Amino acid sequence: MKKKEIEKIYIEKINQLNKHDKAYFEHDKPIISDKEYDDIKQKILDLEKRYKYLINKNSPSKKVGYEASNKFKKVTHDIPMLSLSNAFSKEDIVVFLKKIKNFLNLKENVKIILSSEPKIDGISASLKYIDGIFVLGLSRGDGKIGEDITNNLKTIDDIPIKIDKPNFPKILEVRGEVYITKSDFKKINKNFANPRNAAGGSLRQKDYRETKKIPLKFLAYGFGLAEPTSFKKQSEYLKLLKDWGFKTSSFNNWLSSVEEIDSNHKIMEKKRSEIDYDLDGLVYKVDDLNLQKRLGFVSNSPRWAIAHKFSAEKGFSKIKNIEIQVGKTGALTPVAKIDPITIGGVVVSNATLHNEDEINRKDIRINDVVCIQRAGDVIPQVIHVDLLKRDKNSKKFLFPKKCPSCGSKAIKEFNSNTKKKDAVTRCPDLEFKCNEILKEKLKHFVSKDALNIEGLGKKVVENFWDRKLIKYPYDIFNLDLNILKKIEGWGKKSINNLKNSINKSKEISLDRFIFSLGIRHIGEENAKVLAKHFLNEKKFFGLSRDLNSSESKYRDELQSIDGIGNSQIESLKKFFSNNQNLRIVSRLVSILRIKDYKYLKKKTPISEKLIMFTGTFVNNSRSELKFLAESMGAKIVSNISKKTDYLVVGSQKPTVRKINEAKNFNIEVLTEDEWNKIVSL
Ligand code: IVH
Repeated sequence: MKKKEIEKIYIEKINQLNKHDKAYFEHDKPIISDKEYDDIKQKILDLEKRYKYLINKNSPSKKVGYEASNKFKKVTHDIPMLSLSNAFSKEDIVVFLKKIKNFLNLKENVKIILSSEPKIDGISASLKYIDGIFVLGLSRGDGKIGEDITNNLKTIDDIPIKIDKPNFPKILEVRGEVYITKSDFKKINKNFANPRNAAGGSLRQKDYRETKKIPLKFLAYGFGLAEPTSFKKQSEYLKLLKDWGFKTSSFNNWLSSVEEIDSNHKIMEKKRSEIDYDLDGLVYKVDDLNLQKRLGFVSNSPRWAIAHKFSAEKGFSKIKNIEIQVGKTGALTPVAKIDPITIGGVVVSNATLHNEDEINRKDIRINDVVCIQRAGDVIPQVIHVDLLKRDKNSKKFLFPKKCPSCGSKAIKEFNSNTKKKDAVTRCPDLEFKCNEILKEKLKHFVSKDALNIEGLGKKVVENFWDRKLIKYPYDIFNLDLNILKKIEGWGKKSINNLKNSINKSKEISLDRFIFSLGIRHIGEENAKVLAKHFLNEKKFFGLSRDLNSSESKYRDELQSIDGIGNSQIESLKKFFSNNQNLRIVSRLVSILRIKDYKYLKKKTPISEKLIMFTGTFVNNSRSELKFLAESMGAKIVSNISKKTDYLVVGSQKPTVRKINEAKNFNIEVLTEDEWNKIVSL
């Protein structure tokens, strides 16, 4: 073959591979099988071996590749990998400590020791050791289910494969951060925007040999499953980690007063630029593991830990336009479209302007040069306008009076709690026909915490919507997927994958289903509370028939559920008063298999009992007692009804009316001691 022909074949194959990489990694829609892909790759490598001069920068032998997803076995974490709530100021830390003390019923002056650790901006991983052997390595995934990246993790020198120490637990999941140092990042090729992306990208390479090419590091800071646990404090655990051969941060220390915390934060923030890895703050954890256990979790983050963020990174850019986005509940959110700028390694081209009041307060206008702040995963915000750079002819931004999608007159609701008009402008969508709202509802319906239909992300929903393939949630289940064959990017394999994930999503727990409906004020937590209360779909949808009747029996019942208030009830009522919603729900109920809510693994003396607490308690705070009772399967109510099983009364400031009501209904009234005996506290 002539040199030119060889070159042509080589370039063609490289281009083919690039196209497939894009389909596979970027769009998650492979066009060919793995085997076919590997064949092309091998041909390129063979050609390169024979004709060294061919090697091109886009060759698979040169590239690190795209970030992989969906390519690893999914494994449920033995203990979920949670996230942390954030503190941005000294005041936030004061509140954090106060809440802990309140929850534990401790006096203000009691000292709580915190383990302070740098918060490395990397990728978290969980390493499972059985009898000292590293057997399974998982990525965080969604916190509940991770991906099996054992082989990739084994390439990291900081991760011991075998630990031969007598005090090493029989089973231990070591948790920590995979990262790349700033200096190593500078050395490797610049396919990635920042060290974190580089670490994530190389860690999740399908071929672990690719991972090996990037000098990844691992810093240990936590644990998941641990049997037996010989350590009683986070500080003890961190010391043990070191003994067992793990790397821990040299900046870990122990603090207890707000002043100490504040000054340490200032020192570390100054040091930040000298440290050879990216850190975006400090993490504080209650050192005593027994207290950690008592404090437990609120939704996805522990009460016993917080991330104290460093100040956000900022940049200046020009606002090209202000667009109004319509959310799934009709909220009209103004978004500034800005000239793209890189802030802290991330390209930013949108910034939220929150609402009309915020625009007026900061007097933000199109064509203004503005200061943009990006903090963690939060949507970038506009901090202020650079008035010196304002155009003489600039005009005030007028917030639209109508919904940009359906033309309905936009409104601001009156908030009966604050007794003020809401800051948010809404599309009232009286006809339930606003296209943007419907589309956003669809996106919510398929999202991770709702139906979790893999392969049907926001972009795909947009695409199917534009092609008029879907409009209402139930359309997804009647989709003729063969139509997709005609759409670019959809192959047999990806269509099959989508078919499977749609089918899989048909079996759904009641709480997820309630959440998927996108009812205003019914987020993940409230959906759980409702599911926990109603237990099955029949009882829950009894609501839809009942709530609007004047003799509603559910209204009082809802009112008594801890966590459900007037806004939630009004919103449910509005939702179920609409025929279109009723039609959608009933069609979904006939398509889906909605599983009853199971909140209890073990039977306890208070399983399913309705319990109310009143007053202040001596040994534990009311919040802790409620939390414990819930974790033992009881339901906490905030009003006495004849169904209530126990009223537990604290020795100080109980509501006498509640005690009298309980007595009238013949409900058992318990003291703190009597209650503690029942739950064996
Ligand atoms: S503790 C429940 N400790 O921060 C405890 N996390 O926002 C959660 N991180 O996913 C984790 N350094 O990726 C913990 N010393 C540290 C950490 C740390 C970095 C990351 C980790 C986690 C995220 C939580």
